[in-house]
Amino acid sequence: MKQFAPSSEHNKDEILEVLHDALPKTGTVLEIGSGTGQHAAYFAPRLPVLHWQPSDLSANHASIRAWAEEANAPNLKSPLEVNLLTPTWPITQADAIVCINTVHIVAWQGVVNLFAGAGRILPAGGVMYVYGAYRYATRPLEPSNEKFDQWLKARDPVSGVRDYEAVNALATSNGLTLVEDRAMPGNNRSIWWKKT
Ligand SMILES: C[S@@+](CC[C@H](N)C(=O)[O-])C[C@H]1O[C@@H](n2cnc3c(N)ncnc32)[C@H](O)[C@@H]1O
Repeated sequence: MKQFAPSSEHNKDEILEVLHDALPKTGTVLEIGSGTGQHAAYFAPRLPVLHWQPSDLSANHASIRAWAEEANAPNLKSPLEVNLLTPTWPITQADAIVCINTVHIVAWQGVVNLFAGAGRILPAGGVMYVYGAYRYATRPLEPSNEKFDQWLKARDPVSGVRDYEAVNALATSNGLTLVEDRAMPGNNRSIWWKKT
């Protein structure tokens, strides 16, 4: 039941460091696309004043639960089914949304729904955080991300490295203002916005 993703193991500390800067000091964090549940199990005990709410498609819930059981963190909740391809979610309020390596996996409509959901459920001052690879109009895509994009599209043509400008435009149109776009190891980015 307990799945293991090597990438989650590699990036968990660098992401945690940014989350300390990006997330609100209190409240509920909705994680979308929690995957194996490794990040939730690692972050929740290290951000003990926040309530960590993992979510993913139901097929991933057994692994998320298995990691959570081991973490035994009182602030780590049971996973919810948040499907980005549906416009409504089983949660109506959160103080932050964290979405790691999922924007390039779901179809573009899922990204549209992600930012619409952020606009809907975050309060003023709420944080929307994404981590992953992005393409910028101002510079060529790094060769490693070009290869990654080709690999993603061969696997699923609706997926792929997203344009930062298009994602930022979605954020803006849902009442979110860019706080920071931070370079991360491996040509990844940590980008977060605040609800205005
Ligand atoms: C590359 S994995 C990233 C998982 C985890 N965040 C990590 O960094 O290890 C992408 C995740 O997106 C989830 N996903 C795919 N389609 C989805 C959808 N329609 N709604 C929500 N999550 C989805 C997958 O189940 C998977 O867990």
